[in-house]
Amino acid sequence: MAAVGRPRRSCLAVPGSSVKMLGKAQGLPADQVFLDLEDAVAPLAKPDARKNIVAALNEGDWTGKTRVVRVNDLTTPWTYRDVIEVVEGAGANLDCIMLPKVQNAEQVHWLDLLLTQIEKTLGLEVGRIGIEAQIENAAGLVNVDAIAAASPRVETIIFGPADFMASINMKSLVVGALIPDYPGDPYHYILMRILMAARMHDKQAIDGPFLQIRDVDAFREVAKRSAALGFDGKWVLHPGQIDAANEVYSPAQADYDHAELILDAYDYYTSEAGGKLGAVMLGDEMIDEASRKMALVIAAKGRAAGM
Ligand code: GLV
Ligand code: MG
Repeated sequence: MAAVGRPRRSCLAVPGSSVKMLGKAQGLPADQVFLDLEDAVAPLAKPDARKNIVAALNEGDWTGKTRVVRVNDLTTPWTYRDVIEVVEGAGANLDCIMLPKVQNAEQVHWLDLLLTQIEKTLGLEVGRIGIEAQIENAAGLVNVDAIAAASPRVETIIFGPADFMASINMKSLVVGALIPDYPGDPYHYILMRILMAARMHDKQAIDGPFLQIRDVDAFREVAKRSAALGFDGKWVLHPGQIDAANEVYSPAQADYDHAELILDAYDYYTSEAGGKLGAVMLGDEMIDEASRKMALVIAAKGRAAGM
């Protein structure tokens, strides 16, 4: 089933240690921001980064953006304090917590329970804060179905390619790029595995970062591959990647127009026939209930993008 949720074509990474970037991100056209406490922030900078993030969420203008904070993973000593400080400090101005390097459903249960306790303490609606689960190693991928099903709070399953490549000893240093020695797309299986789990449980599927931030053409090439499979969006590490992501994860105008035409034509011809026709012709194209569903996916993405 196609996941419809908050728009997430472009998910901008913003280090919590940089007050300047926390300010600048508010004016950029990304669908989502995630304010980072994990790998973009040095261990000694984490306590201040928590405070910067709380202040930025409460005092900044994030209108039109999904607001997410990435906490540290559960093998570190920092996770509980990240969650408690950020959610107690800014829970009403926050949409989701992103949990990196998720390895099993129990880790999602832990976060779900902690969020429930904080929401109750603060008098917030229980369940209003969502969870984004990053898949970054073999355990996470093998358990991805259970992770996606672990809580109704889970909104997205995210591919974390850099950590993933390191964790499986992939022989490459360029995240997302094809590897000349391998005759195919080495990420295809991982992306499809994540996509199937996400769709089975009606979640969004998000592609991870592309690190060569000045090469927007290369970003576009990598993004097009996951967009073609059905991914909903991709991380952006630099303002220069935002427009490309918004474009690549929206339908092409011609496809959007065609999808709306299929929906109109199918409704019109089938109701004309008093509900007795299952398949009808639109020009040279036969359209039926399955075509209507395919058209609905493209139309929904286009409408969400304001086409
Ligand atoms: C993102 O966190 C990655 O590891 O690619
Ligand atoms: Mg990572």
